[in-house]
Amino acid sequence: MTQRAPSPVLVMITGPIAAGKSTLAVELTRQLRATGASVALVDLDTVAGMARPTLPSWTWAEKIHADLVGHCCATAIDVVVDEGTSTAAEVQQVRERIPYGTRVLHVVLTADFEASLARAQGEPARGLSRDREFLQRDHDRYAAELSNLAGDLRLHVEGRTPSQLASAVRAALAGMPEASSETDRQVVHTWRGAIDDAELVELTESHGGNPAVGWWDTVRGHSLGWVSARDRTGLLVGFVNVAWDGGDHAFLLDTKSRASHQRQGIGTAVVRLAVEQARAAGCEWLHVDFEPHLAEFYLEACGFRPTAAGLIRLR
Ligand SMILES: CC(C)(COP(=O)(O)OP(=O)(O)OC[C@H]1O[C@@H](n2cnc3c(N)ncnc32)[C@H](O)[C@@H]1OP(=O)(O)O)[C@@H](O)C(=O)NCCC(=O)NCCS
Repeated sequence: MTQRAPSPVLVMITGPIAAGKSTLAVELTRQLRATGASVALVDLDTVAGMARPTLPSWTWAEKIHADLVGHCCATAIDVVVDEGTSTAAEVQQVRERIPYGTRVLHVVLTADFEASLARAQGEPARGLSRDREFLQRDHDRYAAELSNLAGDLRLHVEGRTPSQLASAVRAALAGMPEASSETDRQVVHTWRGAIDDAELVELTESHGGNPAVGWWDTVRGHSLGWVSARDRTGLLVGFVNVAWDGGDHAFLLDTKSRASHQRQGIGTAVVRLAVEQARAAGCEWLHVDFEPHLAEFYLEACGFRPTAAGLIRLR
């Protein structure tokens, strides 16, 4: 079963402080928009700036920035420009949050130290980065990190104008392969396929849930069946469980889809297969309850009709 998937392009711009990352990001955005493309520019400094002067730590800002990049990549926007992700670990953090199928162009900038210092000192609004020793430390750190940053396009900024750099990025974008083929995007849905407890823990963590280790091993024996959705690599990307009274009534529980794969039809597809299988098992009714914000998902996308129901919290 194949799901629709968005086909945004993410341009990640990595470089040492004062290499001109943000100037390039702004110029690239301007040039792309001039061609009619829709572009979101997401920069780390803006996220950090939201909490200044009380920023808890850069790690805090980097995580929120990565989330924001991921959310932008899940929209119908043509290009998302990420400016500020700089270490290999941060690149990985962003990659884990973007939807499956997002094409990525990772631009790795290099710059001369003295030229960067001159740029930094020419910008009165900068703080610490105008200090020679601070900037030297950042450039040394970046030089050591470079071997971990393969990137898709390396550009040395010196001797090139922002417009020329942006044109080089656009040329690389134009040369990128089209969105992955339908085969690459295939998600396979299986009724009662094998799932490990650890996989469900990891899937639940991916959407910010609070998994209990051993939960699935306890619950599985009481289930009519369950649906797993796996991508072509076998990664679990969606799940739903169907509990049963042994007669006419089945109960839909624990619908989940991987955070990076949400809003791609996976949740609807696992529920659809659960409905088919509960019907095939002879059940007459399939029940579900949910929080109000999921009404659109269950009532409109999955086809449940609203009904009066009751609930008592037992512990
Ligand atoms: C709820 C959940 C399973 C939906 O999975 P999904 O794969 O994103 O769902 P789909 O892509 O099939 O969504 C189909 C439609 O349902 C609606 N929908 C899905 N998630 C929604 C949400 N969080 N809020 C409002 N509407 C939503 C939308 O109309 C969506 O269509 P669109 O993307 O074109 O707007 C997923 O968000 C999830 O795992 N959430 C965390 C766990 C959870 O809360 N589970 C529910 C337990 S009752």
